[in-house]
Amino acid sequence: MYNYGEDAGKWKRGRLGVAGDEREIKIRRMTEEDIPQVKAIDELLAGPERALSWQVGADIEVAVYRPALSFVAELEGDIVGFVLGDIRGAEYGKDVSGWIDMVGVAPRYQHMGVGRRLVETFCGMCQQNKVNVEVVIRENDELLKGFFTSMGFRRGDLINFVKECASTE
Ligand SMILES: CC(C)(COP(=O)(O)OP(=O)(O)OC[C@H]1O[C@@H](n2cnc3c(N)ncnc32)[C@H](O)[C@@H]1OP(=O)(O)O)[C@@H](O)C(=O)NCCC(=O)NCCS
Repeated sequence: MYNYGEDAGKWKRGRLGVAGDEREIKIRRMTEEDIPQVKAIDELLAGPERALSWQVGADIEVAVYRPALSFVAELEGDIVGFVLGDIRGAEYGKDVSGWIDMVGVAPRYQHMGVGRRLVETFCGMCQQNKVNVEVVIRENDELLKGFFTSMGFRRGDLINFVKECASTE
């Protein structure tokens, strides 16, 4: 439906973002075969390592929502990170946008620029399709607030309303 680009399935190459580390990181479209490794990364991100906003397993996210614009980061043959998302419309009455559903980087490869490369690749595809990029996170999710703010995201115009019914008789 959307133009994900002729080269969307090809490698985008670059070095790990750590001085002196010359290993090459590759960003490419996620395939079905990648899902077991994506699940393995997801399982490593438990407890305090895990973003408050993304408690559902990545494999469940894939199975239920089939996010069509998803990328993985590969280092020397191993998948070390992923971004799940899609370009879709009619969400909360907004224009068609690129929606990031989940990002994960294996703990030992964090703070090396892998998450940045994944999100930049996702944003690049949205730029080609002339749509903005959106992500919904919890108010108290300081990890993701810091990550997305450093990537140039700013607070958007969605809020949620709650009526407390669960605890009333
Ligand atoms: C958030 C996450 C994706 C960041 O990935 P990363 O590869 O470590 O991030 P990068 O090294 O590319 O950092 C990009 C920017 O984000 C910021 N950032 C990274 N980690 C951060 C943190 N823990 N808190 C605040 N800001 C952070 C950095 O300032 C960095 O900016 P800079 O490049 O200008 O220094 C990673 O920490 C992660 O996967 N966390 C768990 C997410 C999760 O629970 N997902 C669901 C289960 S899979």
